[in-house]
Amino acid sequence: MRKTRNLRIAVQRSGRLSESSVGLLRRCDVGFDNGLGKLRSTARDFPLEIFFLRDDDIPRYIEDGVADVGIVGENILEESGSNTDIVERLGFGKCRLSIAVPRGDAYTSLADLAGKRIATSYPNILGRHLCQHNVEAEIHTISGSVEIAPGIGLTDAVCDLVSSGSTLLTNGLTEVETVMMSEAVLVRRRELDAELEAIFASLLFRIRAVGAAARNKYILLNAPNEKLAEVVKLLPGIKSPTVMPLAEAGWSSVHSVIGAADHWNIVERLKAAGAEGILVLSIDQMIG
Ligand code: PRP
Ligand code: ZN
Repeated sequence: MRKTRNLRIAVQRSGRLSESSVGLLRRCDVGFDNGLGKLRSTARDFPLEIFFLRDDDIPRYIEDGVADVGIVGENILEESGSNTDIVERLGFGKCRLSIAVPRGDAYTSLADLAGKRIATSYPNILGRHLCQHNVEAEIHTISGSVEIAPGIGLTDAVCDLVSSGSTLLTNGLTEVETVMMSEAVLVRRRELDAELEAIFASLLFRIRAVGAAARNKYILLNAPNEKLAEVVKLLPGIKSPTVMPLAEAGWSSVHSVIGAADHWNIVERLKAAGAEGILVLSIDQMIG
């Protein structure tokens, strides 16, 4: 039997993207062990090898050809200046890179930071942002616990990732300026040989099916036939809803797919339109 090669994917070992990255691969039915402290793992039923790395190292690993693809935050990718290609936005790990100042400090615009000291782990992105706005400030690059810098008198401001905002809050800082929005993205090395390219295509097919599934819900309901037209109007479906007669005369069962984002709104309108026994189900994978 010919041994097939593995596509090598880099994911964050521990941090904001790790759990969702591993979860995404599992929903793609790629089975693997990721015990505590594990640095690499070979999938059981898909030609994939998973590297668990520090997020900051992922772009470099891909560029150097040590890994073929990766899941990484756009913030990390942008800061690294790497020329790997973004293939897909993954919709998780959403955050923003923002400038924050001590609560109560006067701030009207970026110009207020001229001559001030700003702590960040993102000197390249911040440097470009300041440059674009013709503001000269002193950037202090630190690799962690950026948010304590003003409190200990190291800097006047910070430029750091904000997601819930609780880190800023507990450190007495106020967000004053968004520098960039970020989310997890799937990136790949430009050159993959035909074999790896084919594996990547299968993985991407699965990732897209899982992504589409997450954005939608499957809905089933019963409706009296005289209300059907109104009910069906509320349900776009993939093509159009499935309508089947129930055993009880005068009633139909309706099946459809609706967007997950506002499905409660649609469910309320379906109920008001006369639908009964409404079931809303999650979808595992969806191929258009
Ligand atoms: C970021 C940032 C803050 C925190 C903000 O760190 O440095 O500490 O998240 O999140 P919050 O607004 O929800 O409180 P992250 O966990 O990404 O770790 P890293 O930057 O050290 O990799
Ligand atoms: Zn990090």
